[in-house]
Parts: sequence; structure tokens; C-alpha cells
Amino acid sequence: AKTPMRVAVTGAAGQIGYSLLFRIASGDMLGKDQPVILQLLEIADEKAQKALKGVMMELDDCAFPLLVGMTAHSDPMTAFKDADIALLVGARPRGPGMERKDLLEANAQIFTVQGKALDAVASRNVKVLVVGNPANTNAYIAMKSAPSLPAKNFTAMLRLDHNRALSQVAQKTGKQVKDIKKLAVWGNHSPTMYADYRFATIDGQSVKDMINDDAWNRDTFLPTVGKRGAAIIEARGLSSAASAANAAIDHIRDWVLGTNGEWTTMGIPSDGSYGIPKDVMFGFPVTTENGEYKIVQGLAIDEFSQERINKTLAELEEERAGVAHLLK
Ligand code: NAI
Repeated sequence: AKTPMRVAVTGAAGQIGYSLLFRIASGDMLGKDQPVILQLLEIADEKAQKALKGVMMELDDCAFPLLVGMTAHSDPMTAFKDADIALLVGARPRGPGMERKDLLEANAQIFTVQGKALDAVASRNVKVLVVGNPANTNAYIAMKSAPSLPAKNFTAMLRLDHNRALSQVAQKTGKQVKDIKKLAVWGNHSPTMYADYRFATIDGQSVKDMINDDAWNRDTFLPTVGKRGAAIIEARGLSSAASAANAAIDHIRDWVLGTNGEWTTMGIPSDGSYGIPKDVMFGFPVTTENGEYKIVQGLAIDEFSQERINKTLAELEEERAGVAHLLK
């Protein structure tokens, strides 16, 4: 039997946590032969800890054969101990009257503390996925706060945007999601992201040629994907949770188990590819193999795409500048 993997999840009593934990425990993320130990972190607040206990009672009641251990924590130093995977979902939501800057700073504090804790106690090979918003900048902060871990172990979630784009393209072309290859989303997990189907194919045919409508790309597709989170809140009265959890599962599963040559999107620290400054946590098209991701190289960037990439990069650099004083 395989050695159990330790999966730490923060914000475990939250909305996304409730959609995420059961799927991890059932083997959707790491495989149906991979036992897991869940190390669940919530804030020390009595209500949050009680809610977490309730979720753990339900996990018990599922009697998942792959769930071989489970612990509750309010301290990241114990929650991240020997973690092989860390899903950083918990974050400070924007409160009434809170400026973007306040939000960045509140989260910078959380992700500095958690980055340091990962640095101190997690497995040296820990794979970190930041879901909590602003996801790219939070991931950047955690990475910078963990100097003894490889920077490449820190990633941000762009997969929900990627999956949203897949569905929009499937609906537009009347084809199936599973047949769409080579789609990618560049940049920040925010409305500035650039979902790019210029290289995408379905049964070997160019998606761009099939759609053949630049106005649809610019005026419908990009705004629909970019503002999908707001549309979900408007419709449901709550933010995306099951789809976000699903994207987190997809991200880690592909990272660990590989994409077999297919492209996906991950927010990763730039290595300088495509002119994105080193270490900026940026959505790139990647392939993964043996637990490592690789940026798809050599893609032509036309003028329209370059403009979009510049815009989402500028936003990320601004966020980074906004928290620089906290990383000193
Ligand atoms: P939620 O508010 O239902 O749950 C968040 C949980 O995190 C709460 O239980 C809270 O107590 C906990 N938490 C807060 N600070 C914490 C800390 N320092 N340590 C441990 N736990 C902490 O929120 P929900 O809906 O689960 O969303 C979580 C985050 O994911 C939000 O920041 C949201 O904006 C983000 N998100 C990101 C997406 C992406 O594509 N990257 C998509 C959807 C949501």
C-alpha cells in the first residue's frame, strides 16, 4: 500500500472547504489508491473551530477508505507539519468599506505567517496551491516568506478561469469540453486575466478559425470569463465554491499525476518566459510530468494578446508594490 500523503487545508470550515475536503478524502485529487491524512486549519475563533469539528464529524461519517487520519488546528506550525500538499484557501474577505489596499495588507499578514510556517515545518517537496484571494499576490507573499523552500513549489489558482474558458468555448463551438486542447489563461486571477484560445484545437482543428469572430472574443468571451465570479455571486448570492474546489482538485491532480502532454493553466513564479519578470506569480500555459510543471514555450504573442498580457502584468506588479514594505 502507498504511504499516506499529508494534505493541509486552510479555511477548512469555509464554503470552498465544504466542497473540497470530501473530494480529497474520496481520492478525486491524488488517486483512488492514495491514502490521505487531512490537517485542517481554521482561525482560533470558537465558532470557526466548532464548525470545523462539525465538518470533521461528517468526514468521519463518510467512512472514506482512503482517509487514514485527520486533525484540527488553529496554528499553522502544527497544521503544516510534514505537509506534502498545502491548499491555502482561507483568506480575509473584503469587508464593508474596506479598500483594496486594506485587503491586500490583511492578507499579506496571513500569508507571511503561513509562508514562514511552511518554511519551518512542511515537507521540503511540499506543493502549495493558493486559492484565497488575491490569490497570485498571496502566493507570491507565501513564496517570499519561505526562503528555504524552492520557489517553484508555490502556485496560485488560475484553473477555475481555465475551466470557465473551456466551457464558454465548448458552448460557442457546440463541441465537448473534453475535446478542447491547448487553451490557456495568462496573468492574474482577476478580471484582467487573458483567456487565450488562439492555439486551441478541437479534433485537430483551430478553435480560432472555427469561431472566427474577434468581436465575440473581445466583447463577449473575455468579459464573460473575466467577470464570471461576479456573475455567480449575483445569481447565487454566494461566491463560487464547488467550482473553485473542483478547480483546486484539478490543479493539484494534474501537478502530481501529470497532464500527458496536454496543456493546462497554473499560476506559477515566472522564470522570465514571455517577458514576465522573474518571480511574478503569473498564469501560464503549462504541461506537467513527474510532479513538475513546464511552461509551454515558443508561442507567438500578437499585438492584441500583448496588450492584454501587459495589462494583467501591470496589475500584478502594482499589487506586489503594495505589499513590498511588508516583505522587508
Ligand atoms: P469562506 O469565507 O466561506 O471561508 C473562508 C474560511 O477561511 C473561513 O472559515 C475563515 O474562518 C477561514 N480563514 C480566514 N483566515 C484564516 C487563516 N488565517 N487561517 C485559516 N483559516 C482562515 O470563503 P470561501 O468561499 O471558502 O473562499 C475562500 C477564499 O477563496 C476567498 O478568499 C475567495 O475569494 C477565494 N476564491 C478564490 C478563487 C480562485 O479562483 N482563486 C475562486 C473562488 C474563491
